[in-house]
Amino acid sequence: MAPPVERTPLARCLILLHSLLLLLPRGVPCRGATRAPESPCHRAEHPLISHTEIEPWIHRFRAEGTVDYSQLTFDPGQNELIVGARNHLFRLHLEDLSLIQVGEKSMSACLSVCLSEECQNYIRVLLINGDRLFTCGTNAFTPICTNRTLTNLTEVHDQISGMARCPYNPLHNSTALITSSGELYAATAMDFSGRDPAIYRSLGGLPPLRTAQYNSKWLNEPNFVSSYDIGNFTYFFFRENAVEHDCGRTVFSRAARVCKNDIGGRFLLEDTWTTFMKARLNCSRPGEIPFNYNELQGTFFLPELELLYGIFTTNVNSIAASAVCTFNLSAITQVFSGPFKYQENSRSAWLPYPNPNPDFQCGTIDYGSYVNLTERNLQDAQKFILMHEVVQPVVPVPYFMEDNVRFSHVAVDVVQGKDMLYHIIYLATDYGTIKKVLSPLNQTMGSCLLDEIELFPPKKRQPIRSLLILHSRSELFVGVRDQVIKIPLMHCNFHKSRDACVGARDPYCGWDLVLKKCTTLEESISMSQWEQSITRCPVRNVTVDGHFGAWSGWKACSHSDGGSVGSCQCRTRACDSPSPQCGGQPCQGISVEVANCSRNGAWTPWTPWAPCSTSCGIGFQVRQRSCSNPTPRHGGRVCVGQNREERYCNEHLPCPPHVYWSAWSPWERCTVPCGGGIQSRRRTCENGNECPGCSVEFQSCNTLPCPDLKKTTPWTPWTPVNISDNGGHYEQRFRYTCKARVTEPSLLEVGRQRIEMRYCSSDGSTGCSTDDLLRSGRITGLTVNGGWSVWGPWSQCSRDCSSGVRNRKRTCSNPKPKYGGITCLGPAQEFQECNTTPCPVDGSWSCWSPWSKCSVTCGGGHYMRTRTCNNPPPAYGGDICLGLHTEEALCNIQPCPESWSDWSEWSPCDSSGSQVRLRHCDVLFPTGNQCSGNSSETRACLPISNFIPETSVARSSQEERWCGVFIMQTYLIAQCHN
Ligand SMILES: *[C@@H]1O[C@H](CO)[C@@H](O)[C@H](O)[C@H]1NC(C)=O
Ligand SMILES: *[C@@H]1O[C@H](CO)[C@@H](O)[C@H](O)[C@H]1NC(C)=O
Ligand SMILES: *[C@@H]1O[C@H](CO)[C@@H](O)[C@H](O)[C@H]1NC(C)=O
Repeated sequence: MAPPVERTPLARCLILLHSLLLLLPRGVPCRGATRAPESPCHRAEHPLISHTEIEPWIHRFRAEGTVDYSQLTFDPGQNELIVGARNHLFRLHLEDLSLIQVGEKSMSACLSVCLSEECQNYIRVLLINGDRLFTCGTNAFTPICTNRTLTNLTEVHDQISGMARCPYNPLHNSTALITSSGELYAATAMDFSGRDPAIYRSLGGLPPLRTAQYNSKWLNEPNFVSSYDIGNFTYFFFRENAVEHDCGRTVFSRAARVCKNDIGGRFLLEDTWTTFMKARLNCSRPGEIPFNYNELQGTFFLPELELLYGIFTTNVNSIAASAVCTFNLSAITQVFSGPFKYQENSRSAWLPYPNPNPDFQCGTIDYGSYVNLTERNLQDAQKFILMHEVVQPVVPVPYFMEDNVRFSHVAVDVVQGKDMLYHIIYLATDYGTIKKVLSPLNQTMGSCLLDEIELFPPKKRQPIRSLLILHSRSELFVGVRDQVIKIPLMHCNFHKSRDACVGARDPYCGWDLVLKKCTTLEESISMSQWEQSITRCPVRNVTVDGHFGAWSGWKACSHSDGGSVGSCQCRTRACDSPSPQCGGQPCQGISVEVANCSRNGAWTPWTPWAPCSTSCGIGFQVRQRSCSNPTPRHGGRVCVGQNREERYCNEHLPCPPHVYWSAWSPWERCTVPCGGGIQSRRRTCENGNECPGCSVEFQSCNTLPCPDLKKTTPWTPWTPVNISDNGGHYEQRFRYTCKARVTEPSLLEVGRQRIEMRYCSSDGSTGCSTDDLLRSGRITGLTVNGGWSVWGPWSQCSRDCSSGVRNRKRTCSNPKPKYGGITCLGPAQEFQECNTTPCPVDGSWSCWSPWSKCSVTCGGGHYMRTRTCNNPPPAYGGDICLGLHTEEALCNIQPCPESWSDWSEWSPCDSSGSQVRLRHCDVLFPTGNQCSGNSSETRACLPISNFIPETSVARSSQEERWCGVFIMQTYLIAQCHN
């Protein structure tokens, strides 16, 4: 165990821990800030420029689908902003961040299989080298660097490996620069996992060199922050695990440097820096036990002043706190000239070791060759890496400190104020705001937080990835995940009043007493008229104007309106977001709103009665009203009663009987069977004769032409003509052929005439020679007007009885109009009623009557039935009924049963010698020939001896019967006539 130098490491650690616990909860008050009275109206708060206030002043650039705008740089002419984002390079106009050119997306072949975020090409090196742009990207864990034309980003010259120039993993922190002689100095992880960090020089004319590999004394899990090319050296700023800290794992901030003319060692430190040295940067709040801001996050170097601004934070695992410390380059150089801190072996303590080359300046470049330039003993160079002294800031207390925030980037502007030059520090916070801090003016006043600019609306904040200041234009460029933002640093006309302008304590701004506005120094008329008073820190105006909060929900409430109380919906709001404070304005507007009050419905007046539903006879009529005067609303009463009333009307106005046509009768018979006749149908007017229109209607019928009729007359006999010739004479005979389409042959007119002529010699020897002639009359002459022929005969009547019609025709042929003559006037057809007598009605029999009773019950009677010709009776010459009107038949022809009883025995002979026998009628009411004859018989007594008994009795004629014969009589009542 190595003996402790002052205290045991463990004891020191405990004290440090204790101090942390004591210090942190109390916070770190801003240096120079005076404790304000507790009244909230007098609390010192820094002014805040909200996102909505700053938005009109800023420009933004976004490219669809592109993220990680983490690399920003300017072209040498400072006309363009070069942006490196994921997979893309952009050239933007400084003026408004409008796009000039997009560098093509360079995709690794791996991209198609590896889809995670890290597989994209994250640009991590973006350097200007003359007219070239040198960029390196992670390129899906296969870093690649390209050399492009600055003015044409798509023109790629070289493509080289990015190993040791660019991290593999986009999350690894790295830094790089190119010197004027073309060497690339890069500080980055050289492998995939980040376990092999290096500061590596390549390209250019000098041999490539690196830091010793896997040697935690050189670099121990570093996070590189920045690098600068200053004089003979290249400086690197980073934080790393403190190898010299022997109690647990602590991160220290470092400044390291190498000589630019280092060419590496021979045998020892081959290809390795021989001039690499590093020193701790201290940024802490002094006290009995200092509070350390150990972790360097960003730097800004002012070359003219050789002043380095650094931002430091606490470890990510502890309470967030940040501080700004400034270092003079001379202080760094001085530490590098001082003793080294050296540990013999891993168990021994770190001890100071005198610097063998206290005024080391990278040798003498004047030697002109690389030999021995570094003037360092290679053994020393391998042994002595870490400086014993710690680089202390310009002032022991940090320029600026704040708790609960982590600064990530810093930029510094040097501003000419009215009285002096001011340093303004721009600090990017991890939640997307920019803090504008005025560097301490003197030992007594300390720094001032001038304002804080919100780049995003409160819910859309995101960390800042890059911060770049352009002094020549006083503009700040900020890269975040999804955009680049340009903020003007001078926004003096933001302040409208003199108080606000001067009270802002902004070195950029002053009140121009002539122009009466807040201007920059350049804009002011003269410096003497320009008022600026930077004597203390600005205080946020804490007067708060009241503003209404959100409306409450609607609630039922009652509301009286002209005497009647209705139920309404009400809502309220309070002047509480915020309520007016420190003399702010009260809320303007109403705090109660009443709506949807209930209202009872009422009827409109009745409409007039509508017209009666009928024009005669009983009808009804209606009138209406509606519940809309007013309409009930929001639970008000509805109207009571009917909205419609009906009553009878025209009760005393009987309707006249309805006059109407009966239906048409069927069409009657056509006047002609062919060649176009007419037929009619009729209707009758019921209930009067007022019906409009005709009672008879005609239509043409049988329009088909009649068949051609042709008739040739026989030859007339030969008749001599009055021409004689040679004693002979001529004879002539005629015949006519008629042809027409007419209904009847009788209507035929004589048509062609044939004439035959013959010559008969006087002696008759030659007979008559026949000479045919056809005569045709041909009238020549002037125009002939038409004239009617006589009427033709009447056609057949359309009906035989009960009024038919008939027609007759005439033709315009007497004469026919010729040679342009006019045709006949008047109708060519005429109609007439005919057969007006009613049609004959044929008589028809009534039904037969029932048969009459039989005249006897036995022994043959007769019965009859009748009918009459009255169904209907014959009329108008109709036929009488044909047949019998009486029918008779026999009945009960069965013989009547025996009606006499048997004869009794002959009585004894009486005194007169006769004896009697008797019989009686068995039928009570004998009919016909029943019981005809006598009921007693008398005979002379016979001597007993010669009594011959009667054995048979002959039948009397009375006992003969009718058999199966009917007699029928026919009565002819009428005879048909044909
Ligand atoms: C870029 O290309 C130029 C011209 O080809 C060359 O001079 C320069 O060395 C290259 N730079 C890098 C870093 O490759
Ligand atoms: C930029 O370079 C590319 C590739 O060399 C070329 O095709 C293109 O024309 C160039 N554009 C301009 C504007 O020069
Ligand atoms: C790089 O630096 C940032 C900011 O300090 C830090 O959050 C991040 O963890 C660092 N990256 C690595 C790999 O340590």
